[in-house]
Amino acid sequence: MRVAVIGAGVIGLSSALCIQEQFQSLLPSLQLEIYADRFTPHTTSDGAAGLWQPYVSDRGNLQETLWNKETFDHLLGQLHSPAAKEMGLFLISGYNLFREPPPVRKEQGVDVVLNCSGMRSGDLQPDPELQPGRGQIIKVLAPWVKHFIITHDLKSGIYNSPYVIPGEFTVLGGVYQHGNWSEENSAKDHKSIWDSCCQLLPALQKAKIVGEWSGLRPARPSVRLERESIRLGNRQAEVIHNYGHGGFGLTIHWGCAMAAARLFGTILQEKQQLGTLPGPRL
Ligand SMILES: Cc1cc2nc3c(=O)[nH]c(=O)nc-3n(C[C@H](O)[C@H](O)[C@H](O)COP(=O)(O)OP(=O)(O)OC[C@H]3O[C@@H](n4cnc5c(N)ncnc54)[C@H](O)[C@@H]3O)c2cc1C
Ligand SMILES: *[C@@H]1O[C@H](CO)[C@@H](O)[C@H](O)[C@H]1NC(C)=O
Ligand SMILES: *[C@@H]1O[C@H](CO)[C@@H](O)[C@H](O)[C@H]1NC(C)=O
Repeated sequence: MRVAVIGAGVIGLSSALCIQEQFQSLLPSLQLEIYADRFTPHTTSDGAAGLWQPYVSDRGNLQETLWNKETFDHLLGQLHSPAAKEMGLFLISGYNLFREPPPVRKEQGVDVVLNCSGMRSGDLQPDPELQPGRGQIIKVLAPWVKHFIITHDLKSGIYNSPYVIPGEFTVLGGVYQHGNWSEENSAKDHKSIWDSCCQLLPALQKAKIVGEWSGLRPARPSVRLERESIRLGNRQAEVIHNYGHGGFGLTIHWGCAMAAARLFGTILQEKQQLGTLPGPRL
Protein backbone atom coordinates (compact mmCIF):
# COMPACT_ATOMS: atom_id res chain seq x y z
CA MET A 1 0.00 0.00 0.00
CA ARG A 2 1.67 3.21 -1.17
CA VAL A 3 0.56 6.59 0.04
CA ALA A 4 1.93 9.82 -1.42
CA VAL A 5 1.64 12.96 0.66
CA ILE A 6 2.04 16.15 -1.39
CA GLY A 7 3.36 18.85 0.91
CA ALA A 8 5.82 18.99 3.78
CA GLY A 9 4.36 21.85 5.76
CA VAL A 10 2.69 21.36 9.11
CA ILE A 11 -0.40 19.91 7.41
CA GLY A 12 1.39 17.33 5.24
CA LEU A 13 3.77 16.20 7.97
CA SER A 14 1.13 15.90 10.66
CA SER A 15 -1.23 14.02 8.32
CA ALA A 16 1.55 11.59 7.40
CA LEU A 17 2.54 11.12 11.03
CA CYS A 18 -1.02 10.58 12.15
CA ILE A 19 -1.69 7.95 9.45
CA GLN A 20 1.56 6.20 10.28
CA GLU A 21 0.80 6.14 14.00
CA GLN A 22 -2.66 4.74 13.48
CA PHE A 23 -2.18 2.28 10.63
CA GLN A 24 1.44 1.12 10.38
CA SER A 25 1.02 -1.71 12.89
CA LEU A 26 -2.24 -2.90 11.29
CA LEU A 27 -0.78 -2.66 7.81
CA PRO A 28 2.96 -3.44 7.71
CA SER A 29 3.07 -2.92 3.92
CA LEU A 30 2.12 0.73 4.39
CA GLN A 31 4.67 3.01 2.74
CA LEU A 32 4.38 6.74 3.15
CA GLU A 33 6.23 9.09 0.82
CA ILE A 34 6.24 12.84 1.30
CA TYR A 35 6.73 14.85 -1.91
CA ALA A 36 7.45 18.58 -1.86
CA ASP A 37 9.55 21.28 -3.41
CA ARG A 38 10.03 23.00 -0.07
CA PHE A 39 10.96 21.33 3.18
CA THR A 40 11.70 22.81 6.58
CA PRO A 41 12.85 25.57 7.15
CA HIS A 42 11.45 26.88 3.84
CA THR A 43 7.71 26.24 4.16
CA THR A 44 5.04 28.73 5.16
CA SER A 45 4.61 26.69 8.32
CA ASP A 46 8.20 27.44 9.34
CA GLY A 47 7.79 31.16 8.91
CA ALA A 48 4.45 31.46 10.65
CA ALA A 49 4.25 33.49 13.80
CA GLY A 50 3.88 30.26 15.72
CA LEU A 51 0.97 31.06 17.88
CA TRP A 52 -1.57 28.50 18.92
CA GLN A 53 -4.66 30.66 19.05
CA PRO A 54 -7.69 29.70 21.02
CA TYR A 55 -10.86 30.23 19.05
CA VAL A 56 -12.41 33.01 21.05
CA SER A 57 -15.14 33.27 18.50
CA ASP A 58 -15.63 30.17 16.42
CA ARG A 59 -16.26 31.89 13.08
CA GLY A 60 -19.56 30.06 13.14
CA ASN A 61 -17.80 26.83 12.23
CA LEU A 62 -18.17 24.20 14.93
CA GLN A 63 -15.99 21.70 13.09
CA GLU A 64 -13.01 24.06 13.01
CA THR A 65 -13.49 24.79 16.70
CA LEU A 66 -13.33 21.07 17.44
CA TRP A 67 -10.14 20.58 15.39
CA ASN A 68 -8.67 23.45 17.33
CA LYS A 69 -9.40 21.72 20.62
CA GLU A 70 -8.00 18.39 19.44
CA THR A 71 -4.83 20.11 18.30
CA PHE A 72 -4.32 21.72 21.64
CA ASP A 73 -4.74 18.38 23.43
CA HIS A 74 -2.23 16.83 21.06
CA LEU A 75 0.37 19.56 21.48
CA LEU A 76 0.18 19.19 25.23
CA GLY A 77 0.59 15.43 24.96
CA GLN A 78 3.46 15.78 22.53
CA LEU A 79 5.47 17.87 24.96
CA HIS A 80 5.67 14.81 27.19
CA SER A 81 6.35 12.24 24.50
CA PRO A 82 9.95 11.84 23.31
CA ALA A 83 8.81 9.05 20.96
CA ALA A 84 6.95 11.52 18.79
CA LYS A 85 10.07 12.42 16.82
CA GLU A 86 10.92 9.13 15.12
CA MET A 87 8.87 9.11 11.95
CA GLY A 88 10.62 6.76 9.59
CA LEU A 89 8.98 8.22 6.49
CA PHE A 90 10.35 8.72 2.99
CA LEU A 91 10.96 12.35 2.11
CA ILE A 92 11.22 13.14 -1.58
CA SER A 93 12.47 16.67 -2.15
CA GLY A 94 12.79 18.67 -5.34
CA TYR A 95 9.44 17.36 -6.50
CA ASN A 96 7.39 19.99 -8.26
CA LEU A 97 3.78 19.43 -9.11
CA PHE A 98 4.06 22.07 -11.83
CA ARG A 99 6.58 20.05 -13.79
CA GLU A 100 6.07 16.42 -12.80
CA PRO A 101 2.96 14.32 -12.89
CA PRO A 102 1.57 13.30 -9.55
CA PRO A 103 3.25 10.07 -8.40
CA VAL A 104 0.02 8.22 -9.00
CA ARG A 105 0.70 8.09 -12.75
CA LYS A 106 4.07 6.44 -12.46
CA GLU A 107 4.61 2.74 -12.76
CA GLN A 108 3.45 1.03 -9.56
CA GLY A 109 1.54 4.19 -8.82
CA VAL A 110 0.38 5.04 -5.37
CA ASP A 111 -3.03 4.04 -4.04
CA VAL A 112 -3.83 7.16 -2.06
CA VAL A 113 -2.68 10.77 -2.50
CA LEU A 114 -2.90 13.28 0.32
CA ASN A 115 -3.16 16.78 -1.06
CA CYS A 116 -1.58 19.02 1.57
CA SER A 117 -0.04 21.53 -0.82
CA GLY A 118 -1.02 24.68 1.03
CA MET A 119 -1.15 27.63 -1.32
CA ARG A 120 0.76 26.71 -4.47
CA SER A 121 -1.30 24.02 -6.11
CA GLY A 122 -0.10 24.44 -9.65
CA ASP A 123 -2.54 24.49 -12.50
CA LEU A 124 -3.42 20.83 -12.25
CA GLN A 125 -6.85 21.58 -10.94
CA PRO A 126 -7.11 25.15 -9.69
CA ASP A 127 -9.34 25.96 -6.78
CA PRO A 128 -10.78 29.48 -7.19
CA GLU A 129 -11.87 29.51 -3.55
CA LEU A 130 -8.23 29.32 -2.45
CA GLN A 131 -6.58 32.75 -2.29
CA PRO A 132 -3.28 33.96 -0.82
CA GLY A 133 -3.50 36.03 2.33
CA ARG A 134 -0.08 37.65 2.24
CA GLY A 135 1.56 38.30 5.59
CA GLN A 136 4.81 39.86 6.72
CA ILE A 137 6.56 39.64 10.09
CA ILE A 138 9.62 41.15 11.75
CA LYS A 139 11.67 39.06 14.18
CA VAL A 140 13.41 40.89 17.00
CA LEU A 141 15.56 39.94 19.95
CA ALA A 142 13.48 40.89 23.00
CA PRO A 143 13.66 38.09 25.58
CA TRP A 144 12.05 40.37 28.12
CA VAL A 145 8.72 40.14 26.29
CA LYS A 146 6.85 37.47 28.23
CA HIS A 147 3.28 37.94 27.12
CA PHE A 148 1.71 38.07 23.70
CA ILE A 149 -0.31 41.04 22.62
CA ILE A 150 -2.84 40.62 19.84
CA THR A 151 -5.09 43.34 18.56
CA HIS A 152 -8.07 42.92 16.32
CA ASP A 153 -9.10 45.88 14.28
CA LEU A 154 -12.50 45.01 12.92
CA LYS A 155 -12.26 47.75 10.28
CA SER A 156 -8.97 46.75 8.67
CA GLY A 157 -9.80 43.06 8.94
CA ILE A 158 -8.38 40.10 10.80
CA TYR A 159 -4.54 39.92 11.11
CA ASN A 160 -4.26 43.43 9.69
CA SER A 161 -3.53 45.01 13.05
CA PRO A 162 -0.44 44.81 15.25
CA TYR A 163 0.61 41.76 17.27
CA VAL A 164 3.64 40.89 19.38
CA ILE A 165 4.35 37.20 20.02
CA PRO A 166 7.25 36.13 22.27
CA GLY A 167 9.21 32.94 21.63
CA GLU A 168 12.75 32.06 20.60
CA PHE A 169 12.53 35.44 18.88
CA THR A 170 9.77 37.94 19.37
CA VAL A 171 7.57 38.14 16.31
CA LEU A 172 5.95 41.40 15.25
CA GLY A 173 3.05 41.57 12.78
CA GLY A 174 0.67 41.94 11.20
CA VAL A 175 -0.28 42.25 7.63
CA TYR A 176 -3.04 40.50 5.72
CA GLN A 177 -3.34 41.23 2.00
CA HIS A 178 -5.93 39.11 0.28
CA GLY A 179 -4.98 38.15 -3.27
CA ASN A 180 -1.35 39.32 -3.06
CA TRP A 181 0.98 36.56 -4.31
CA SER A 182 4.24 38.33 -3.45
CA GLU A 183 6.60 36.61 -1.02
CA GLU A 184 8.92 39.64 -1.06
CA ASN A 185 9.27 41.82 2.01
CA SER A 186 7.87 45.30 1.56
CA ALA A 187 9.44 48.40 3.10
CA LYS A 188 6.01 49.97 3.46
CA ASP A 189 4.69 46.98 5.43
CA HIS A 190 7.88 46.94 7.50
CA LYS A 191 7.27 50.52 8.55
CA SER A 192 3.63 50.02 9.41
CA ILE A 193 4.37 46.87 11.46
CA TRP A 194 7.26 48.54 13.26
CA ASP A 195 5.41 51.78 14.01
CA SER A 196 2.23 50.12 15.21
CA CYS A 197 4.03 47.54 17.39
CA CYS A 198 6.26 50.19 18.97
CA GLN A 199 3.17 52.18 19.72
CA LEU A 200 1.71 49.14 21.43
CA LEU A 201 4.93 48.37 23.34
CA PRO A 202 7.33 51.38 23.25
CA ALA A 203 10.26 49.40 24.73
CA LEU A 204 10.49 47.54 21.40
CA GLN A 205 12.16 50.59 19.86
CA LYS A 206 15.46 49.40 21.40
CA ALA A 207 15.09 45.78 20.28
CA LYS A 208 17.48 44.41 17.67
CA ILE A 209 15.88 43.26 14.41
CA VAL A 210 17.15 39.80 13.49
CA GLY A 211 14.91 38.81 10.62
CA GLU A 212 12.04 39.57 8.36
CA TRP A 213 9.76 37.23 6.43
CA SER A 214 6.77 37.27 4.11
CA GLY A 215 4.50 34.32 3.42
CA LEU A 216 1.16 33.36 1.96
CA ARG A 217 -1.63 32.09 4.17
CA PRO A 218 -3.70 29.53 2.23
CA ALA A 219 -7.00 31.37 2.70
CA ARG A 220 -10.29 29.69 1.87
CA PRO A 221 -13.86 30.27 3.10
CA SER A 222 -13.47 26.90 4.86
CA VAL A 223 -10.76 24.26 5.08
CA ARG A 224 -11.08 21.64 2.33
CA LEU A 225 -10.93 18.31 4.11
CA GLU A 226 -12.63 15.63 2.05
CA ARG A 227 -11.92 12.72 -0.26
CA GLU A 228 -12.29 12.48 -3.98
CA SER A 229 -11.85 9.63 -6.47
CA ILE A 230 -9.90 10.71 -9.51
CA ARG A 231 -8.84 8.96 -12.70
CA LEU A 232 -5.29 9.58 -13.79
CA GLY A 233 -4.39 7.77 -16.97
CA ASN A 234 -5.78 4.28 -16.57
CA ARG A 235 -5.52 4.29 -12.81
CA GLN A 236 -8.06 5.14 -10.20
CA ALA A 237 -6.66 7.01 -7.21
CA GLU A 238 -8.17 8.19 -3.99
CA VAL A 239 -7.28 11.75 -3.03
CA ILE A 240 -7.66 13.14 0.47
CA HIS A 241 -7.62 16.93 0.38
CA ASN A 242 -6.36 18.77 3.43
CA TYR A 243 -5.65 22.41 2.59
CA GLY A 244 -6.89 25.95 3.00
CA HIS A 245 -5.95 26.55 6.64
CA GLY A 246 -5.56 30.30 6.27
CA GLY A 247 -3.94 32.04 9.23
CA PHE A 248 -4.56 29.17 11.64
CA GLY A 249 -2.82 26.10 10.18
CA LEU A 250 -0.61 25.64 13.22
CA THR A 251 -3.60 26.13 15.44
CA ILE A 252 -5.69 23.29 14.03
CA HIS A 253 -3.19 21.01 12.29
CA TRP A 254 -3.52 17.94 14.48
CA GLY A 255 -7.29 17.84 14.52
CA CYS A 256 -7.20 18.04 10.72
CA ALA A 257 -4.57 15.31 10.56
CA MET A 258 -6.86 13.05 12.62
CA ALA A 259 -9.78 13.77 10.30
CA ALA A 260 -7.57 12.94 7.29
CA ALA A 261 -6.52 9.69 8.99
CA ARG A 262 -10.18 8.77 9.53
CA LEU A 263 -10.83 9.26 5.81
CA PHE A 264 -7.79 7.08 5.12
CA GLY A 265 -9.30 4.39 7.38
CA THR A 266 -12.52 4.30 5.37
CA ILE A 267 -10.56 3.98 2.12
CA LEU A 268 -8.64 1.03 3.61
CA GLN A 269 -11.86 -0.63 4.68
CA GLU A 270 -13.35 -0.24 1.21
CA LYS A 271 -10.25 -1.67 -0.42
CA GLN A 272 -10.32 -4.66 1.92
CA GLN A 273 -14.00 -5.27 1.27
CA LEU A 274 -13.33 -5.16 -2.46
CA GLY A 275 -10.51 -7.63 -1.94
CA THR A 276 -7.94 -5.31 -3.54
CA LEU A 277 -6.03 -5.12 -0.31
CA PRO A 278 -5.12 -8.16 1.81
CA GLY A 279 -4.51 -7.99 5.50
CA PRO A 280 -6.44 -7.81 8.73
CA ARG A 281 -9.87 -6.32 8.82
CA LEU A 282 -9.82 -2.99 10.57
C1 LIG B 1 2.82 35.89 8.46
C2 LIG B 1 2.08 34.63 8.85
C3 LIG B 1 1.84 34.36 10.18
C4 LIG B 1 1.15 33.23 10.57
N1 LIG B 1 0.94 33.01 11.90
C5 LIG B 1 0.24 31.91 12.31
C6 LIG B 1 0.01 31.67 13.70
O1 LIG B 1 0.44 32.41 14.58
N2 LIG B 1 -0.71 30.58 14.04
C7 LIG B 1 -1.22 29.71 13.10
O2 LIG B 1 -1.88 28.75 13.47
N3 LIG B 1 -0.99 29.91 11.78
C8 LIG B 1 -0.29 30.99 11.36
N4 LIG B 1 -0.08 31.21 10.02
C9 LIG B 1 -0.70 30.29 9.04
C10 LIG B 1 0.11 29.03 8.82
O3 LIG B 1 1.44 29.38 8.47
C11 LIG B 1 -0.52 28.21 7.68
O4 LIG B 1 -1.90 28.00 7.91
C12 LIG B 1 0.16 26.84 7.58
O5 LIG B 1 1.56 26.99 7.55
C13 LIG B 1 -0.32 26.08 6.36
O6 LIG B 1 0.38 24.86 6.35
P1 LIG B 1 0.44 23.94 5.07
O7 LIG B 1 1.17 22.71 5.48
O8 LIG B 1 -0.93 23.80 4.49
O9 LIG B 1 1.26 24.80 3.99
P2 LIG B 1 2.83 25.04 3.80
O10 LIG B 1 3.55 25.15 5.07
O11 LIG B 1 2.89 26.16 2.83
O12 LIG B 1 3.33 23.71 3.08
C14 LIG B 1 2.97 23.41 1.75
C15 LIG B 1 3.85 22.27 1.25
O13 LIG B 1 3.38 21.89 -0.06
C16 LIG B 1 4.46 21.85 -0.97
N5 LIG B 1 3.96 22.25 -2.29
C17 LIG B 1 3.05 23.19 -2.58
N6 LIG B 1 2.89 23.29 -3.90
C18 LIG B 1 3.73 22.40 -4.46
C19 LIG B 1 4.03 22.03 -5.78
N7 LIG B 1 3.43 22.64 -6.82
N8 LIG B 1 4.93 21.07 -5.99
C20 LIG B 1 5.54 20.46 -4.95
N9 LIG B 1 5.29 20.75 -3.67
C21 LIG B 1 4.40 21.71 -3.44
C22 LIG B 1 5.45 22.88 -0.44
O14 LIG B 1 6.75 22.60 -0.92
C23 LIG B 1 5.32 22.68 1.07
O15 LIG B 1 6.14 21.61 1.47
C24 LIG B 1 0.65 32.32 9.59
C25 LIG B 1 0.93 32.56 8.25
C26 LIG B 1 1.64 33.69 7.86
C27 LIG B 1 1.92 33.92 6.41
C1 LIG C 1 -4.65 20.08 -4.38
O1 LIG C 1 -4.71 21.22 -3.57
C2 LIG C 1 -4.64 22.43 -4.27
C3 LIG C 1 -4.50 23.52 -3.23
O2 LIG C 1 -3.16 23.61 -2.81
C4 LIG C 1 -5.85 22.56 -5.16
O3 LIG C 1 -5.85 23.80 -5.85
C5 LIG C 1 -5.86 21.41 -6.13
O4 LIG C 1 -7.06 21.45 -6.87
C6 LIG C 1 -5.74 20.07 -5.44
N1 LIG C 1 -5.39 19.04 -6.41
C7 LIG C 1 -6.25 18.15 -6.91
C8 LIG C 1 -5.69 17.13 -7.84
O5 LIG C 1 -7.43 18.15 -6.62
C1 LIG D 1 1.85 43.06 -2.55
O1 LIG D 1 3.08 42.88 -1.88
C2 LIG D 1 4.17 43.63 -2.39
C3 LIG D 1 5.39 43.38 -1.51
O2 LIG D 1 5.92 42.14 -1.61
C4 LIG D 1 3.87 45.11 -2.39
O3 LIG D 1 4.94 45.80 -3.02
C5 LIG D 1 2.55 45.39 -3.10
O4 LIG D 1 2.22 46.75 -2.94
C6 LIG D 1 1.44 44.52 -2.51
N1 LIG D 1 0.23 44.73 -3.25
C7 LIG D 1 -0.93 45.01 -2.65
C8 LIG D 1 -2.10 45.20 -3.56
O5 LIG D 1 -1.04 45.10 -1.45
